[in-house]
Amino acid sequence: MVSTSLPGGTWTLGDLPVTRFGYGAMQLAGPWVMGPPADHGGALAVLRAAVELGITHIDTSEAYGPHVTNQLIREALHPYPDSLHIVTKVGANRDQQGGWPPARDPESLRRSVHENLETLGLDVLDLVNLRLGDAAGPQPGSVAEAFETLVGLQQQGLIRHLGVSNATPEQVAQAQAIAPIVCVQNMYNLAHRQDDELIDALAEQGIAYVPFFPLGGFSPLQSSVLSTVAARLEAAPMSVALAWLLRRSPNILLIPGTSSTTHLRENIAGAALPLSDDDLAELDKIGR
Ligand SMILES: NC(=O)c1ccc[n+]([C@@H]2O[C@H](COP(=O)([O-])OP(=O)(O)OC[C@H]3O[C@@H](n4cnc5c(N)ncnc54)[C@H](OP(=O)(O)O)[C@@H]3O)[C@@H](O)[C@H]2O)c1
Repeated sequence: MVSTSLPGGTWTLGDLPVTRFGYGAMQLAGPWVMGPPADHGGALAVLRAAVELGITHIDTSEAYGPHVTNQLIREALHPYPDSLHIVTKVGANRDQQGGWPPARDPESLRRSVHENLETLGLDVLDLVNLRLGDAAGPQPGSVAEAFETLVGLQQQGLIRHLGVSNATPEQVAQAQAIAPIVCVQNMYNLAHRQDDELIDALAEQGIAYVPFFPLGGFSPLQSSVLSTVAARLEAAPMSVALAWLLRRSPNILLIPGTSSTTHLRENIAGAALPLSDDDLAELDKIGR
């Protein structure tokens, strides 16, 4: 049993206890997630602060940088505390233009799992998400060959738990028919509510939903309703957005990204913001 003073308490991913308030490491790499960070020491400091503040769930990918974010995590935090769980994803490469071409053939997936083990300095990956779709979002299509490849790597002992990302509800169901998943990581926030039904269905099954771009990603969330509620509560809009996600469903885990320890602390404090039923009803209108 793990206790935490972080907002939202804890969740168990498969058999791994994690704080519901996690950290998304993507934006630690250079601009548009390519190359090294402008402030190497600052990036290491954010990662160390996250763990010191009690966060036990860090989200990453070999594609961030590429390689850069994983290398930063290893430099900042290895040897890892037993309580820390690093979640990675496979299924996309990077091209010279900074694009994210899919790489879901069996050989690419196997290579990517081994690269993640190498750069993170691990013998086993706690949780690997199969990233589907493309930069435009989830796309229909079979996940069978790719997911079965990861199941094979799991059976070899290289992966503890599996999840899917950027997935349609049909692809989630198809993966679940092949092997258990412990999370779905899709784009979702106050203004993008396409997965409302999926979140509720996963909650009933005890499966985590991990929204990426909880703060809007590369374009910060903007909404006059959000600004109004935030002003009334004398809080930052980002605080309201995170507090709303924690209230939205108990299976939602937060992985907001930041390259600033000041923002990290602000986000932790902000996610604890109490929201009344009236606040929630008003915020609920934004993405509906
Ligand atoms: N599965 C997928 O396909 C996928 C796709 C995208 C992302 N992800 C994961 O999801 C995580 C979260 O997404 P994200 O980091 O791209 O987007 P995000 O969490 O929605 O927003 C991050 C942005 O918000 C800014 N920010 C954070 N806190 C702030 C604050 N208190 N005040 C002002 N600005 C603040 C950050 O800038 P500063 O650095 O200046 O704080 C950064 O630019 C990623 O780290 C990654 O692990 C997964």
